Amino acid sequence: MGAEEVLSGSKVYWTGVNDYTSDLFEGIWPVGEYGVSINSYIIKAEKTVLIDLVKAGGGGSSENLVDQLASIDLEPEEIDYLVLNHLEPDHTGFLSSFRRICPNAEIITSKKGVPLVKAFYGISENVKAVEDGETLDIGDGKQLVFAYIPNVHWPETMVTYETSTKILFSCDAFGSFGALKGGIFDDEILKEDHEFFEAESLRYYANIVGPFSNSVLKAIEKAGGLDIKVIAPSHGLIWRKNPETIINRYVRYANYMNDYAEPKITVIWGTMYGNTEIMMRSVLRGIAKEKVKVDVLKVPETDVSYVLAKAWESAGLVIAMPTYEYKIFPPMKYVLDIFDYKHVWHKKVLRVGSFGWSGGAERHFEQTIKNFKWDCIGPLEYQGAPTEEDLKKGEQLGAELAKEVKQIPPKK
Ligand code: FEO
Repeated sequence: MGAEEVLSGSKVYWTGVNDYTSDLFEGIWPVGEYGVSINSYIIKAEKTVLIDLVKAGGGGSSENLVDQLASIDLEPEEIDYLVLNHLEPDHTGFLSSFRRICPNAEIITSKKGVPLVKAFYGISENVKAVEDGETLDIGDGKQLVFAYIPNVHWPETMVTYETSTKILFSCDAFGSFGALKGGIFDDEILKEDHEFFEAESLRYYANIVGPFSNSVLKAIEKAGGLDIKVIAPSHGLIWRKNPETIINRYVRYANYMNDYAEPKITVIWGTMYGNTEIMMRSVLRGIAKEKVKVDVLKVPETDVSYVLAKAWESAGLVIAMPTYEYKIFPPMKYVLDIFDYKHVWHKKVLRVGSFGWSGGAERHFEQTIKNFKWDCIGPLEYQGAPTEEDLKKGEQLGAELAKEVKQIPPKK
C-alpha cells in the first residue's frame, strides 16, 4: 500500500507499515497471525513534518517507510521535523538510521522524551523539548499543538494536534492490534472487519494500556477541549468518519478497571488429569441455566494475551485449576501474575479445583489476589475426583455466580 492522504486536500498522509513478522509484540503478546500496523504520518506544509517513526527491521518496516515517503515524492532528507510522540522502540527503532539519512531533521519530543532519545539512541544534538500545550507554526496555515498524555503509554507520551485539519495524532491512544488489510480508514472497511478490529482493540487495550486506565481517562478529558475531526493513532485504523466510536470504546475499556465490566463470565481452566475439568463442566451447567454469556479458555493452551482480553471485559470469572505441589497450578499462576501487572480488578470470582495428597492452592490463590479487589464466592475444593455432591455444589455455585453477574448493567 502506498501513502494515502488522510483527508482530501489536507496534505496530511498516512505513511504506515504493516508488520506480520513479529510473533510477539513487546516480546510477550502474539501478533504474528493478524499482524500489527505501525502508523506514521507526513504533513506537507512550508515545513515538512514526519509524525512518529517505525521499528527497525520488523518485516522491512523501516525500508517500507522510506518507500511510503517515495510514493508521495518525498525523500527522507526533505523532512524538517520529526515528531516523536512516544519513545517506545516500535515507533523509534529506526531512529539511529534515520538520523544518519536525515541529520538536519529536528527531533521534537516532550521534556521526558529528550533523555530517552539519548538513552535508547545516543542522540542529543538537534533535539527539541516542547512543553505541554506548546504550538509550532509549520506554515501554509498549519499549526501543531503538543499535549502531554503521561502514561498512555509511557510517562513521556504526548499527542500532536494539527489545527487546520483538526487531526489528532494520538500515538498508542485509540490504537489496536491487527494489520490494515487494504482499508486504512474506518469508512473503508466492512462490518466484519470492524468486528475484527473491535476484538483486536480490546486485546491491545488489555495487553498494553490497561493498567494506565486512569491516565487514559485523564487524556480523554483533556482531548475533550479539542475539536477533533480525525483520530490518527499509531496502530490500527484511522477514524475519520466516526472518531467518537473509538473514543467511546476506550472510555468503556478504561472504566472496566475501576468497576465491574460487562455482565458475562470468562471461565479460565486448567487440569492435570481431568478432575478439575469434570467440575468445570458442572459449573458451566449452572451458568447456562441462568443464561449468562460465557467464554471458556483453557490454560496453558490459550495464550495469556487472549485470556486477558476476555477477562478485561467480563464482570465474572471462574478460575478452575488444581493444587500443584501445595500451590496454584503453574500456568494459572502465570495468568494471575499477568492480571496483577495489568490491574484486572473488580471481578466476581468463583474458584474450584481438585487436590491430590493435600490442598494449598487456595492459600496461595488468596495471597496472589490480595490486591485485586475481587469479590469471591467458594472456593470449592475436593480431594481426587469430585463426588456427585461436589458436582451438584459446583453447579449451584456456577448459578450463584451467574445470578450475581446478571445484576450488573451492561456498559455497551
Ligand atoms: Fe506502540 Fe507504547 O508503543
